[in-house]
Amino acid sequence: MRRVYADANATTPLLPEVMEAMRPFWIDHFGNASSIHQDGQRAHSAVNQARETLADFFNCHAAEVVFNSGGTEGDNTALFGLLRPGDHFITTSIEHSAILEAAKRLASQGVETTFIEPHSSGWIDPTAIQLALRQETRLISVMLANNETGVLQPVEEIGKIALSASTFFHIDAVQGAGKVPLDVRRFGCHLLSISAHKMHGPKGVGAMFVRRGTPIESLLVGGSHERRRRAGTENVPGIVGLAKAVVLAMNSLGDGTIERLAALRDRLEAGILRISGTGVNGAWDGDKPVARVANTTNIWFDNLEGEALVIALDLKGVAVSGGSACHSGATEPSHVLMAMGLDKNRARASLRFSLLKTATDHDVDYILSVVPEAVEHLRAISPVVAGTRG
Ligand SMILES: Cc1ncc(COP(=O)(O)O)c(C=O)c1O
Repeated sequence: MRRVYADANATTPLLPEVMEAMRPFWIDHFGNASSIHQDGQRAHSAVNQARETLADFFNCHAAEVVFNSGGTEGDNTALFGLLRPGDHFITTSIEHSAILEAAKRLASQGVETTFIEPHSSGWIDPTAIQLALRQETRLISVMLANNETGVLQPVEEIGKIALSASTFFHIDAVQGAGKVPLDVRRFGCHLLSISAHKMHGPKGVGAMFVRRGTPIESLLVGGSHERRRRAGTENVPGIVGLAKAVVLAMNSLGDGTIERLAALRDRLEAGILRISGTGVNGAWDGDKPVARVANTTNIWFDNLEGEALVIALDLKGVAVSGGSACHSGATEPSHVLMAMGLDKNRARASLRFSLLKTATDHDVDYILSVVPEAVEHLRAISPVVAGTRG
């Protein structure tokens, strides 16, 4: 049976070029980048070269790039590295759990957090951030693109607010990287986190921009790797893979791939919206369209269980994500969709379709050939319709 993977915001496969770039660094060039012999220096120069690539991607100096294990570590580093008891922190209620759970832990250590709620479109109003500022506000952290809706946040405006308030600013760019151009100078941020596996690189590796002079304490201590900002022997194959994925992402940003992807997403969205009792989460703010990354659409389906639809589509060969997450064994509706004001049923009955940048017209045709029938079938047997479920 045909399989179409439409869950790119969860993770992406390595592109073959990434795999090829990494290959020599597992066995032939296996050296420790800290060793002074030739084997070590080969690894060291590969890491340096990758650092230059990342600096290009972020628009920063190579010395401002720190390699790490991915988005969770970057997010955690920003918060634990800067916030101390008595500090005030501003973030949003629609961040990834890597931010929200870190803020929760910091609350018990005397850091107070203000969570800015989004508009019903999923967009964060910079004015709300301005209004939340206090004398003690030390850090603002806002994501570039939301993982569930794809909505792009006004990071440039928030950067200006942070500048005028002399507050540090971190951007979780995990879902934006490779989908929109990054420019840390234009964004006005001090810190920015990305993760390789969301952009066709390997899992368990990422990078952070740390603006020169930002007094961030490292999360891990040990050796003097990464200018003492992240201890631990460098994951050389992973770093090389990340850099290759970044080169390919920069090409995609300029060669029409993103526009092609947006057109595919729009066709997919329009096709699904032809089914009655459906709508898009996060596409409109009043009568204004909100900017979204090109590959994502989040759609609600009335009168069915989202999880049942995820399973039904999986059985037909289509991989997507639902609007609920499993927390401690219980299925909870997505905190992002709830923050946007959806009721529990609608949040649960929402699906995220996130296309790979390699998606084709045939992929979209296939998804559109299976979704209406699956929806119709589930609605016919749905306990939501039958009223057995509130
Ligand atoms: C917005 C966002 N931030 C952070 C992360 C965590 O990244 P990683 O999987 O590299 O730890 C994710 C992953 O889903 C994400 O979507």
